[in-house]
Amino acid sequence: MFGRKKRRSEIDPDRLPEHIGVILDGNGRWAKKRGLPRSAGHSAGADTLKKIVTECNNIGIKYITVYAFSTENWKRPKDEVDFLMNLLLDYLRNAEKTLSGENVVIKAIGSRKELSAEIQEQIVKTEAFTAKNSGIVMNIALNYGGREEIVNAVREIVSDVQSGKTDSDDIDERLFSDYLYTKGQPDIDLLIRTSGEQRLSNFLLWQNSYSELWFTDKLWPDFSVDDLHRAIIDFQSRSRRFGAV
Ligand code: FPP
Repeated sequence: MFGRKKRRSEIDPDRLPEHIGVILDGNGRWAKKRGLPRSAGHSAGADTLKKIVTECNNIGIKYITVYAFSTENWKRPKDEVDFLMNLLLDYLRNAEKTLSGENVVIKAIGSRKELSAEIQEQIVKTEAFTAKNSGIVMNIALNYGGREEIVNAVREIVSDVQSGKTDSDDIDERLFSDYLYTKGQPDIDLLIRTSGEQRLSNFLLWQNSYSELWFTDKLWPDFSVDDLHRAIIDFQSRSRRFGAV
């Protein structure tokens, strides 16, 4: 306990990552190791997520984006997809009681039209309900794919140029960012991925251009508040040059 508190005190509040991205990986393996169904790993993962978001909010992190369901995750067995969708629905419903008490603003990013009508309605409700909060913004990437997001942005820009709403001479990185799901938000500063995999998996491709990557072998349900502190302290020790010297 003393060690944990000590590590927290090593975090420099003036050099926090503004936006943390999380690829929460390893729920299935965590369950398998315990002889449990994969669904038990996802439930444990959802609990871990609440703990981590709460701590990020306490520390003063402004944005967190979590990869809850990718455009490729539909390829999983139907019962697992159904379980994940129900878990997400519960999470969004309970946000009022739990995360909202923590002052969290919830947004869903990704393509909504493939989600069930029930989830789409709940997203609208939860976003509206938490919009008045002033704490951390939590983006839940749901049916999200980085390439899809970029292609979508290009389509919308073309359409706005054709209708005269946008001038093609004005297209630059700033304008392009405004067509992404994360419009108005800063890029990712620190990307955390658990379970030993070291890849981006189509997560926030544009927004991760200059992020610092932090990997751990721990499976997501085992990821602790202390691990979060470690990642932030490591981030603060790095020298970010953004291509300069
Ligand atoms: C990765 O583990 C996890 C997922 C694909 C799903 C993550 C979703 C949740 C924790 C549900 C709750 C989320 C919210 C926002 C409520 P994996 O299944 O790929 O694990 P494996 O690589 O060990 O098989």
